[in-house]
Amino acid sequence: MEKRRTYRDFSDREVSDEILKRVIGAAFKAPTNDHLRQFEFVVVRGRENIAKIIAPLAKNVAAFKELVAEVDESGDKDKMAMFADALPKQQKMLMESGLLIIPFFRQLTCPLLKPTEQSSLNYFASAWCAVENMLLAATAEGLGAVFHIPVADEAKQIKELVHAPEGYEFACLLTIGYPAESAFLPKQKAINVEERIHELQMLH
Ligand SMILES: Cc1cc2nc3c(=O)[nH]c(=O)nc-3n(C[C@H](O)[C@H](O)[C@H](O)COP(=O)(O)O)c2cc1C
Repeated sequence: MEKRRTYRDFSDREVSDEILKRVIGAAFKAPTNDHLRQFEFVVVRGRENIAKIIAPLAKNVAAFKELVAEVDESGDKDKMAMFADALPKQQKMLMESGLLIIPFFRQLTCPLLKPTEQSSLNYFASAWCAVENMLLAATAEGLGAVFHIPVADEAKQIKELVHAPEGYEFACLLTIGYPAESAFLPKQKAINVEERIHELQMLH
């Protein structure tokens, strides 16, 4: 956990099938809301193939920037440094290592974007527990990882491109790979954990 970072610069050294299997295997060790672990992983190898799958991202860079601007109320310098590095790399970072993983999950009950209560998001939450396990497993293998969250109509288009069956959604576009020697890592926020722990004093 101490070593996990978001890498956005990769070498072209290939990740073996064996390592890939271990990283995907870690997804199935995560907790899951309905016990079923209904995850399916689309794997795309090779920069040219990946370019075809992520083509819908090209016209959406503006939408992504807008989204970033919307959530920015802080003017935080570390955060802006991260975005200055990350924004132009959204497409390149997904192709560079030559390995893209699309983690799909079964979305039963209501549609993902029409939750009716917090627990409607359980399938989504389980998928993200699985993704975090994969990030940690990749780190343990000496790999870097990064993911792009689909914005605007990217998810819809990518589901069509990979012929995803009805009732499945994907959490993100995930890349794992060997970090480039010159990989840039934005400064992480130093958090004082004690300040974030709020022990409740029961009132009598
Ligand atoms: C929900 C979520 C969405 C994110 N979306 C993106 C993304 O679309 N593109 C990207 O390059 N990084 C994305 N990130 C990575 C964050 O920028 C990164 O985790 C953060 O800057 C902290 O850096 P660290 O992971 O190296 O500790 C996302 C992270 C989370 C948890």
